[in-house]
Amino acid sequence: MGQVQLQLKFKVAALLFFSTLAFKSSAPYTSPDPYYLLNCGSSAPSTEDNRDFLPNTQFALSTGKHISVGEATSPTLYAAARVFTDASFYEFDINCTKTHTVRLHFLPLTDKYDLSTAVFNVSANYQFNLLNNFSATDPTTPVKKEYLIHVAAKKKRICFTPIRGLAFVSAIEVFSIPDDIIWSSEWELNFSASNQTLETLYRINVGGSPVTPSKDTMWRTWIPDDNFLASGDTSNRTTTTNPINYDPEVLTEEIAPDSVYDTCRSMASPNSNITWEFEASGHATHLLRLHFCDITSSTLDELSFNVYINDEIAFEDLKPGSLVHRFASPFLKDYTADSGPLSSRGKWLIRVSIGPPTHISWSMNGILNGLEIFKLRRGFQGFPEFETEIHVLSGIRHRHLVSLIGYCQEHSEMILVYEFMSKDTLRDHLHNSDLSWKQRLEICIGSARGLHYLHSSLARPILHRDVKSSNILLDDGFTGKVSDFGLSQVVGPSMSETYVSTGVKGSFGYFDPEYVRTRQLTTKSNVYSFGVVLLEALCARPVIVMDLLSEEINLADWAMSWHKQGLLGRTIDPSLVGEIKPNSLRMFGQIAEKCLEEYGADRPTMGDVVWNLEYAFQLQETEMAREPYEDSITTCATELPLPVIGRWPSISSVVTSHRDDDSAVARDTESESTASQVFSQFMTSEGR
Ligand SMILES: *[C@@H]1O[C@H](CO)[C@@H](O)[C@H](O)[C@H]1NC(C)=O
Ligand SMILES: *[C@@H]1O[C@H](CO)[C@@H](O)[C@H](O)[C@H]1NC(C)=O
Ligand SMILES: *[C@@H]1O[C@H](CO)[C@@H](O)[C@H](O)[C@H]1NC(C)=O
Ligand SMILES: *[C@@H]1O[C@H](CO)[C@@H](O)[C@H](O)[C@H]1NC(C)=O
Ligand SMILES: *[C@@H]1O[C@H](CO)[C@@H](O)[C@H](O)[C@H]1NC(C)=O
Ligand SMILES: *[C@@H]1O[C@H](CO)[C@@H](O)[C@H](O)[C@H]1NC(C)=O
Ligand SMILES: *[C@@H]1O[C@H](CO)[C@@H](O)[C@H](O)[C@H]1NC(C)=O
Repeated sequence: MGQVQLQLKFKVAALLFFSTLAFKSSAPYTSPDPYYLLNCGSSAPSTEDNRDFLPNTQFALSTGKHISVGEATSPTLYAAARVFTDASFYEFDINCTKTHTVRLHFLPLTDKYDLSTAVFNVSANYQFNLLNNFSATDPTTPVKKEYLIHVAAKKKRICFTPIRGLAFVSAIEVFSIPDDIIWSSEWELNFSASNQTLETLYRINVGGSPVTPSKDTMWRTWIPDDNFLASGDTSNRTTTTNPINYDPEVLTEEIAPDSVYDTCRSMASPNSNITWEFEASGHATHLLRLHFCDITSSTLDELSFNVYINDEIAFEDLKPGSLVHRFASPFLKDYTADSGPLSSRGKWLIRVSIGPPTHISWSMNGILNGLEIFKLRRGFQGFPEFETEIHVLSGIRHRHLVSLIGYCQEHSEMILVYEFMSKDTLRDHLHNSDLSWKQRLEICIGSARGLHYLHSSLARPILHRDVKSSNILLDDGFTGKVSDFGLSQVVGPSMSETYVSTGVKGSFGYFDPEYVRTRQLTTKSNVYSFGVVLLEALCARPVIVMDLLSEEINLADWAMSWHKQGLLGRTIDPSLVGEIKPNSLRMFGQIAEKCLEEYGADRPTMGDVVWNLEYAFQLQETEMAREPYEDSITTCATELPLPVIGRWPSISSVVTSHRDDDSAVARDTESESTASQVFSQFMTSEGR
């Protein structure tokens, strides 16, 4: 590695000397450190735009399977490519305090493999998606993608993940850029430079000709604006051969080269706008950088104009003469915009216009010299943060929580290793109806204790994101243990509120309605979902059965409507018939009802739930003589008043489940005599 860098520095130095002679006007950025140019898949260096791309054999490459295709010994940059059959990454040592340009080059060769059919993802440090579901389909034209990345990590990994078979890359550039080049401006106020990625969408030399990397101070490519002018454009082009006067207080040559500032467009007449249109993504934030340099005027106060982005004023009465103090002195304006109108081709557009000023009645002109459009991509939660969470989670040991014993990182995947649970999930057993009521109660009590522990016994409460019967695992002795809280969000200490604001995550049928409304996950959201689990344990019915009547689709609605009529007995798993003591059932129904209250504030805590379930267990266990106070719950359960329960009905319903799949059906089957008989028996022996 060291040897390679040494070699690179020598090459850069040689290039600088050469460039200085060849291109007087562009003074290249002199100290990119590091400065990596890779000719991927090749064993020979390649010179492109006066820069040497080195064979990548010496660069750190992950152990994923990779092969090189094409003419590996050709000095042409795109003659060879690196092909990945599995998730793989290149790793670069970088100075983590800097912003880096990453450029990826793709030319789909078609000789050995047809790379034009490859579809893949590319990410940086697993934090930033650079390309999603990407394919390069034209074997004659290389696709180049550029990103400006700030990642707080000492190593930059460019990760390739095949979606359909293969991923590939032809060349990679990674180099640091001056800190002030992109984040110096107003953008910084609105977007922290850290953990952000900008994808370059357009880099336009207005009124000019193409600028190739060898003629740009940062090896950028600028293209002419002709294809982006709105139809009917009448603007005038201006080109100057006079020197451009950079005011280092305003901007430097590294921001854009002379060849961008020495051409511009101006309005042909004082009453006509110049408009450019660019296709962009919907639902994205774009950063626009507009470059100006007055090369058209004879005095400093001849220009004053409005700049419109998406038909709205972005800058009003912009006067170059008040911003710079010399002729031909460049300045820039940054602006943030979402996508604008839809084009006639159904694409989202960003529309940029230069027009006459608002507050000046005499005729003034307006100009634009250059335009860059970036798409802001925010990083997703990176592994470093994830690791902190894993660390917290792996320290948690509780009889009713599945222990996280370790984790490992494989390419772009984090693999979590949990304690082995021999008896699968509660859901599987409910499917098979092979648990007794007592076992079910014990499992419910156990998992309630596990959740109670997560909510209240740790330095910071942990909210489960997905409480459901398939996340309750059973060990050899059928002890219920809550699993999958690895994806829980740890509630930060800085948050005074006890909720986490998130996009809605979880499983259908278990959603707390308050969470869905407010997007605020609370401990009471877990209580709601747990209420659904209680009903599953009782009814052994899937939480959602789509082919039922609308009021029966959802387990919670269905069971609660029976419960409210005092007929919860109609909903129970047929295999439990005759087994549940009425008092235990009633207590259990009331707990579920309280858990499923519309508002979190009305629901019990998991601690209350544990206590009350234990009481329901006692009611089941002890053949208690009916005593007056039996029906009233004391201490922490005072919020659960017992209604006077109605007589058991003389008719009944039965639950029939097609237990081999999720589409079980529940039907009112008064006419089924067997079911009625079963229920009658239940009612006679247990009812009162
Ligand atoms: C990283 O860059 C910063 C700012 O340019 C510099 O002060 C620091 O010395 C650099 N660190 C290394 C290890 O090169
Ligand atoms: C990925 O792209 C293919 C076509 O290239 C498309 O059929 C598919 O729907 C895309 N997938 C996603 C998740 O966008
Ligand atoms: C590709 O990226 C998309 C978006 O981030 C993600 O949903 C998908 O799972 C990724 N595919 C692979 C194979 O990593
Ligand atoms: C950027 O991400 C790192 C690791 O994920 C984190 O430690 C750091 O606080 C983040 N910085 C900002 C400014 O968000
Ligand atoms: C634009 O160009 C036309 C044709 O060369 C010229 O007549 C007109 O005066 C120019 N307009 C401005 C504002 O310079
Ligand atoms: C220029 O464009 C803006 C935004 O679309 C519009 O409001 C304004 O009226 C236009 N001015 C002229 C002179 O056409
Ligand atoms: C930053 O945000 C402020 C307030 O929302 C806005 O007025 C300003 O235009 C933004 N700056 C940029 C560069 O987008």
